[in-house]
Amino acid sequence: MPPPCQIGWYGLGSMGLAMATNLQNHLKSKMGLNLVYSNRTISRGAPLEAIGAVPEPSFEKLVQRCSIVFTMVSNDAVLDSLVSTAMGSGESLKDKIFVDCSTVHPNTVATAAARFKEKEASFLSAPVFGASPIAAAGKLVFAIGGPRAARETVKPFIQDVMGRYIIDCGEDVKKSSLLKIAGNIVTVSMMEIVGESQVFAERTGLGTGVMEELITEAFGPVPGSYSKRLTTGIYAPPLDSRPGFRVSLSIKDADHALAIAKESNVELPGLEVARNNMVAAREYAGECLDSSSMYGVLRRKAGMAFWNEKSRQGGS
Ligand SMILES: NC(=O)c1ccc[n+]([C@@H]2O[C@H](COP(=O)([O-])OP(=O)(O)OC[C@H]3O[C@@H](n4cnc5c(N)ncnc54)[C@H](OP(=O)(O)O)[C@@H]3O)[C@@H](O)[C@H]2O)c1
Repeated sequence: MPPPCQIGWYGLGSMGLAMATNLQNHLKSKMGLNLVYSNRTISRGAPLEAIGAVPEPSFEKLVQRCSIVFTMVSNDAVLDSLVSTAMGSGESLKDKIFVDCSTVHPNTVATAAARFKEKEASFLSAPVFGASPIAAAGKLVFAIGGPRAARETVKPFIQDVMGRYIIDCGEDVKKSSLLKIAGNIVTVSMMEIVGESQVFAERTGLGTGVMEELITEAFGPVPGSYSKRLTTGIYAPPLDSRPGFRVSLSIKDADHALAIAKESNVELPGLEVARNNMVAAREYAGECLDSSSMYGVLRRKAGMAFWNEKSRQGGS
């Protein structure tokens, strides 16, 4: 068995790198431990290694070395393949705890939990609310579901380390995943509304500056930050950058919500509009887009260019 508190991390994207950095800083300063990390592109971990974390290119070996393993990856297929790798290692997984923070379908987490249970390991679904700057600040909101003992074991590594608040969803691992997907109905729809209002402000001559001031002061910092993604051009960043929240991930989130809504006979017309505008943005401008890129499509519908002056093809 590895030492009781060896902690591992897989997934160093926009969110994962920021979260793992906060965890490493905590482990090092409070417990004298260093995080063991892995990622498909292992070089993404250079800033983590610089603060003492230990690279482990093989996920299988990382699982062997650690008693608690966090994962933060793009989608359901990537999580499934990590679970298969962990299961196929041939090593005992007894008493290990796997904590997935990605946004995935409740059925995906239920399958993962059942597979780990067969090996006497625990699986928690712990998706997060908040964008990458919130992750960097350690202020995410977590939802957590799964076996109680495992939940209590990992909470101290989350609360005031990577997150400011934990919503405990109890034993049912599907519930935290479902809550995340429900939250994304709000997130994606709000992004659409902020985009629509900013196109309205620009076309009527009101101006995006005062509109952003109003959105921030009257409606709050979250929609205010969504407005900034538009006015600073982050909705369509340079091709050599990693978008804050990749449009394809947001489309995945919307699709999960729409599929679950259909099964429950619920209509989500606002979300459908936002989803279709994100798909149209991706068709027009490719993969390197933020979830807010429906704004470019709304601009085109109003007779303007997809690009505003701060975006990657400023003004063209
Ligand atoms: N960004 C946000 O604002 C936000 C907020 C809340 C929740 N989320 C959710 O959090 C999760 C991560 O989001 P993110 O923005 O950090 O995504 P991201 O920047 O695209 O990073 C995705 C991570 O998954 C890895 N990955 C992708 N495809 C893989 C494959 N085929 N095999 C192995 N690894 C693979 C990537 O490795 P490489 O580094 O090698 O590409 C990277 O570590 C997603 O489920 C997303 O929906 C995102």
